[in-house]
Amino acid sequence: MKIAPSIIAADFTKLNKEIKAIEKAGADLVHLDIMDGVFVPNITFGPMLVEAINQMTELELDAHLMIVNPDKYFERFIECGADWISFHIETVKNTKKSINFLKKRRCRAGIAINPETPLKKVLPFIEYLDFLLIMTVRPGFYGQKFIPGVLKKIERARDFIDKNRLSCLIQVDGGINGENAEIVANAGADILVAGAGVFKTKDYKKAIENLRCCEKEQPSLVKFS
Ligand code: DX5
Ligand code: ZN
Repeated sequence: MKIAPSIIAADFTKLNKEIKAIEKAGADLVHLDIMDGVFVPNITFGPMLVEAINQMTELELDAHLMIVNPDKYFERFIECGADWISFHIETVKNTKKSINFLKKRRCRAGIAINPETPLKKVLPFIEYLDFLLIMTVRPGFYGQKFIPGVLKKIERARDFIDKNRLSCLIQVDGGINGENAEIVANAGADILVAGAGVFKTKDYKKAIENLRCCEKEQPSLVKFS
């Protein structure tokens, strides 16, 4: 299991310290929630901060783009250090083209789907993806309650990936904490994102260990050729 703390829930007055702390606590990725106030009802930060964060850590950066016209900004986020980029299926005109762009730039390509978005919308693209981001809250804010109804979708995605022997990883994002991590892992997640579940706890190391709870091994990543 890979753990990706989302810095949206960090204390921004001491961001450098927060990033170093999750690195030391055993995080695998840094999840960056990019919101534009149009696709979601909140605004966070853009490439400038991603660039600064890239200088604060050796960890890979995972940019979750909750913005309209993400294609316009892929190159910029990659330049600023994003190693993984996900965009929401509704936000692009030519999904395959968007995936190809990211892959050509050696960036891990992911598609995100909201709780109400049916899995069948992304099935045709899963074979080309490095990861599928399944949202378990409505995107926009950290600290929301996990929507258990999405578990079935995670199970169905796992099933599809395994049956077709695909390498796409399943990332689950929204309301994940030490209490529900195990059911999410059992449903088929490879990567757990957690905002409040890490940064609003006293002991980040313990929080990350609890999220990793289950014995599920680290998912293997396809090597770039
Ligand atoms: C929601 C974001 C999530 C979220 C994570 O729009 O994509 O990454 O903020 O925070 P928690 O784990 O607190 O829900
Ligand atoms: Zn996110």
